[in-house]
Amino acid sequence: MKFEGSHILSVNQFDRESIERVFDVANQMVPYAKRQKRTTVLEGAILGNLFFEPSTRTRVSFGTAFNLLGGEVRETTGMSNSALAKGESLYDTARVLSGYSDIITMRHPDSGSVAEFSQGSRVPVINGGDGANEHPTQALLDLYTIQKELLYHGGNIDGLHIAMMGDLKYGRTVHSLSKLLCLFKNIRFTLISPKELAMPDSILSAIEDAGHRYTISETIEGNFDADICYQTRVQEERFGSQEEANLYRGKFRLNQQIYTKHFQSKTVIMHPLPRDSRTEANELDNDLNMNPNLAIFRQTDNGVLVRMALFALTLGVEDIVSKFDKEV
Ligand code: CP
Repeated sequence: MKFEGSHILSVNQFDRESIERVFDVANQMVPYAKRQKRTTVLEGAILGNLFFEPSTRTRVSFGTAFNLLGGEVRETTGMSNSALAKGESLYDTARVLSGYSDIITMRHPDSGSVAEFSQGSRVPVINGGDGANEHPTQALLDLYTIQKELLYHGGNIDGLHIAMMGDLKYGRTVHSLSKLLCLFKNIRFTLISPKELAMPDSILSAIEDAGHRYTISETIEGNFDADICYQTRVQEERFGSQEEANLYRGKFRLNQQIYTKHFQSKTVIMHPLPRDSRTEANELDNDLNMNPNLAIFRQTDNGVLVRMALFALTLGVEDIVSKFDKEV
C-alpha cells in the first residue's frame, strides 16, 4: 500500500505489510507522545479536523497527534456550524477546505460520506467514522492494542480468540476490526448480541471467506476461553427511536462478577468507548476499573500513536521525524 498522498477511508485498503508499517511508525512515536522528545516535522502544516457527529477521543487525539508532530489544527464541529446546513454538497465543502489544509480528518453520520467527500479533496482525507460503516483508525488502534496486550501475555494475533459483545449491527468499530483480523491466521470469533443487533452478513461472509471460524450466541453463558473480550455500546443514535434503543440497553453488561464467571483470568477487556454510564445497567461496569486486564485507557493512549503514524505516513515524513527534534 502506498501511504503518501493517499486517503485512508477503509480498512479494506490494508494488508499485513501495511499494518506492520503503521505499527512500526507508531512505536517510533512513543517518546514524542510521552513528551520525552519533541519534533517540529510538520511545522507549518494544517490539519482540517471536521467532526459532524459527537466525538471526544477521535477528534481530540487526531488534533493531539498533529500537534505532537509540530502541526496546527483547525476544527469544525457540528453540522449546524458548517455550510452543509445550508445545503452545500460534500464535494464543494471538500474543494474549499482542502485549499485551507494539508490533510483532513472527518467524521460524518452517513455511511459512505467520507469517501464522497474525498472525491472533492485535493489533500489526503482520513475517515474518523462514517455512520455505521467504518472507523478504520479505531480498528488500527484496536489491533495495535491487541498486539501489545497479547505480547505482554506471550502471544500473538495469529490464533486469536476474540469475543465481541453488544451492538454488533451498528457498531462500526467491530466491523472494521473484524475485517482487519481477517488478514491474520486462524482467528476465532465469538459474537454475542441480541439477534436484532447481530453482526451483518457481509462481515460474517468476510470471516468465512478468509477461512476463520465464528460462533453466534444470544446470551452470555458458559465459559469463553477468549483472549480478548471486546464490548460495545448500544449505538442508540442509529436507531429509529429512543424507545427502540432502550429495548437493548443493559442487555449485555460486563462487570467483575460476569467477567470472573465467564472469562479467563487473563482475558483482556476492550471497548472503543464511550461507555454509557447513565444507568445502573451500563455495558462496562466501573467495578472493572481496577482490573489490570481492562485495556480501555491503553486503547485511548495508543490512539495518539497510531494517528501520529498515519499522519506521518500520509504526509510522507515518517523517515525524517527525528531530524526535526527540538529540545524538550
Ligand atoms: N471510539 C470513539 O470513536 O470515540 P469518540 O466517539 O469519542 O471519538
